[in-house]
Amino acid sequence: MTRPLVAGNWKMNGSRADAQALIAAIRADMQGLDAVDVAVCPSFVLLPVAAQALASSTIALGAQNVCDEDEGAYTGEVSGAMLRECGCRYVIVGHSERRSLYGESDELVARRFMAAKRHGLVPILCVGETLEQRDRGETETVVERQLAAVASAAGSDAFEAAVIAYEPVWAIGTGKTATPEQAQQVHAFIRDYVSRRGGEGVRILYGGSMKPANAADLLAMKDIDGGLIGGASLDADSFLAICRAAAQGA
Ligand code: PGA
Repeated sequence: MTRPLVAGNWKMNGSRADAQALIAAIRADMQGLDAVDVAVCPSFVLLPVAAQALASSTIALGAQNVCDEDEGAYTGEVSGAMLRECGCRYVIVGHSERRSLYGESDELVARRFMAAKRHGLVPILCVGETLEQRDRGETETVVERQLAAVASAAGSDAFEAAVIAYEPVWAIGTGKTATPEQAQQVHAFIRDYVSRRGGEGVRILYGGSMKPANAADLLAMKDIDGGLIGGASLDADSFLAICRAAAQGA
């Protein structure tokens, strides 16, 4: 059985004090979660304070993006080495907000994915379709295109030791969640795709309005190995409730 991973994507939220308080509240209530990997992904500038607050805990630190280049004249970017130095283990790449609001192409996302691996970070590669694409019956085509960009750039064992997050764009921050069956169908498709490219043991997370009320049903599905949690990860009780649902499904 794959060990579940629940990662909090804090997005552009919180102050240093908020980060400290949220991590303290999560740390205070971790019992029963030995079977689950837990991670938090604050914004770049909160990474050092978060790392300090996480010291000697089992909770891992992640970032929300990584530069495709290693160093140099790339204003506004943050390198994999810098993230490692801050104590990051994970990094989200290709989040739909990066793709749609900041124009990140499949090819750029693939290069960021490779940079993460080059620096010993575990990439959490986000894929997912918009509502229009789903309505046109293009879900698998879109997800396959996003995965294929990584596979063709990163080679035969592209997905080894990576994490994939299936995040239907229409479910992110909207309160609408994919049904467990809708999510499972896409997860099974992703599982099949990555298994043939070095990703047999890859964890496939669901993301998109996952919350305590729907987490158990989603996490009970065969190919859903955890969650990438946005809004609900900013509240310690909600985040922990989702982690516990993952522990029960493990
Ligand atoms: P949400 O965000 O849980 O607020 O829908 C998920 C994500 O964007 O990773």
